[in-house]
Order: sequence, then C-alpha cells, then structure tokens
Amino acid sequence: MALRFPILVTGGAGFIGSHACKALSQAGYLPVTVDNLSTGHADAVKWGPLVNADVRDQTALCRTIREHDVEAVIHFAASAYVGESMTRPAFYYDNNAGGMIALINACISTGVKQIVFSSSCATYGIPAGGPIRETTPQAPINPYGRSKLMCEEMLRDCSSGHGLRFAALRYFNAAGADPEGELCERHDPETHLLPLALQAASGQRGPLQVFGTDYCTRDGSCERDYIHVSDLARGHVLAADYLAAGGPSTALNLGSGTGHTVFEVLAAIQRVTGAPVPHELVGRRPGDPPSLTADAELAAKTLGFRTEHSGLDQIISDAAPSFGLADARKARHGRHAAE
Ligand code: UFG
Repeated sequence: MALRFPILVTGGAGFIGSHACKALSQAGYLPVTVDNLSTGHADAVKWGPLVNADVRDQTALCRTIREHDVEAVIHFAASAYVGESMTRPAFYYDNNAGGMIALINACISTGVKQIVFSSSCATYGIPAGGPIRETTPQAPINPYGRSKLMCEEMLRDCSSGHGLRFAALRYFNAAGADPEGELCERHDPETHLLPLALQAASGQRGPLQVFGTDYCTRDGSCERDYIHVSDLARGHVLAADYLAAGGPSTALNLGSGTGHTVFEVLAAIQRVTGAPVPHELVGRRPGDPPSLTADAELAAKTLGFRTEHSGLDQIISDAAPSFGLADARKARHGRHAAE
C-alpha cells in the first residue's frame, strides 16, 4: 500500500494509542510515536518509530514533526485516572492541559493543521439521562474531565485563531484488546472494570468490588457503554481521513450506543470464559455517574463510523487471553468441529 503520510501519535505506547498505531499502519499511514513511557510500553510501539519524549517538550515535538515530515497529529498522551485527578489536580492540569498547549504551539510553528484529540465522555459529567448527544451540556465533575474539556476549548479557540482543524473524539469506555493478540490492556495501577474482573475470574487478584448497587438502573449497578479498543482505533483513522479530506472541526462521541451494567459485565465474563467472577458488594465510588451511554449517530453520519467488534461478548473474548483465560465457547466449538 502506498504511504499516505506520517502522523505524529502522542501517547502511541499506551492502550488506545498503540491500537490506533496498528490501525493507522494498516490504513497506509506511518505512525510516529512520541511517548515518555511513564505509563506506556515501548514493546507496544511496533508500527513506526518511537521518540522517547514528554508531550510538554515543545522542542522535541517540533523536531519530531520536522524530522519525519509529519502532516497531522493524533493526541493521546495524558493522565487518565479519574480518582488520581481528585488527589493530584495540579499534575492533571499540567500534564493534560500543558501537553495540549505545547502540542498546539508545535503545530503552529511547524505548519501542521490537523489534530485528532482524545477526549472523553467524562466531559459530560452526570447528564440528565438517556443517550448522550454531542449537544448535551459539558459539565465535568472531576479535574480529569475538566482538563479534557479545557483541551477541547483550546482547540476550538485555536481553530478559529490559527487555522487549525480538529476532531475531538469523546470516548465512552474503551475495553477489549487487539483480536489478533498483538496488543493488550496493561495499566499500573489497574482501575478499570473489565481487566479487574478478568483478573478476579482468573484468580490473579481477590474478589472484585462492585461499587454501588443502589443506582436507579436495571439491577442497581452502574451502566456504561463499552467500546472495543479496535473500533476506537478505527475511529481515529476515519477522523484522520476526514481532516485530510478537508473536513471542518468537529466533536464526536465514540461509543457503541448500548449500555451494560456492572452485573451484566460479570455475567458475560462467566458466559464467555466459563469462569465466575468472585465479587463483593461495596458502596458507591465517589464521582461515578449512574449511567453513561452514547448517542453514536453523529460519528456515523460524519465519519461513516459504526462499531464492528463492540458486542460485550467479543470485547471479553478478545481481552480474556491476556488474563490467562480463554473463550470457552470457542473451545466447545472447536471440540464439536473435531468430532
Ligand atoms: N467498577 C466497579 N468496580 C471496580 C471498578 C469499576 O464496580 O473495581 C464500576 C464503576 O463503578 C463503573 C464501571 O465499573 O460503573 C466502569 O468503571 P471504570 O473505572 O472501568 O471506568 P469509568 O466508567 O470510571 O470510566 C471513566 C470515564 C471515561 C474515562 C475513564 C478514565 O467514563 O471517560 O474513567 O479512566 F476515560
């Protein structure tokens, strides 16, 4: 496939960033990763060069953009623990808002005009209910969400003031892993539901704590919209294509449009892997909205984006091997086929 052009990927060694690099490479782009490896993994950077630098280092960004003839940027590098953002807000504003401004300045001084930005449904806070549209008011309830909203606002101002065009992608809950097994989810510390539940199911940790059973949802536990990381990755490629084709600045939800409660996730893990998830019921985690699901129509209309791998069972099936679990349904299938 002919090379389309090099794209700078900040945070390309992280969970979503590394999956995006694979998808970019498959689509003919050259992903050039800038990552300080504070939370990312060098061995996840397989589809292009890795520059070990902090996203706040504007000089390193400019040098990398010039050295590799970069024409567009996808910006993942950020701190992403909601709980930590409550105890270290200054660090979150420094890293997330500071990283964004360094990157915008690097784009302005090198003439790069297209930025795909990793935003979050955390910018919506606790919405009134029902699927969340891009027009739903953004009222984040923690420093992490506020830092992402600040970045969106910086991009909005700089698109009119400096002629940049951007696509802010507001992710719902990224989960799963590369279906071909080349990448997986590795956070330290781990705080996300799916990896924690898979670790509990495989005996790698004690019982999962279910945070809150008195929410006004189907079964009392929190509801989230889980989107397969490979679908998310493809969303970034489509956003890069969209900006390259001259599309105007936009902000889009990336979700599956379907919500699953914590208890539904635990039941699905048992259904897929055959392993029950040991768990205990505890109180609510502060700052958790009861229900977050995307209205995914605008991304479909703007980018032609529809999820393809985000059924809950497939997300679990693809994530399970990296936690020492197998898809028991496939094993059963294999046996039947052999018989
Ligand atoms: N949960 C548990 N027990 C756990 C962990 C999580 O019950 O041990 C529940 C949570 O209460 C929540 C659901 O599982 O209802 C999902 O929790 P995650 O921590 O996996 O993810 P969040 O919904 O908190 O994700 C949020 C935002 C994202 C943001 C992310 C950053 O929705 O936009 O935090 O880490 F990117």
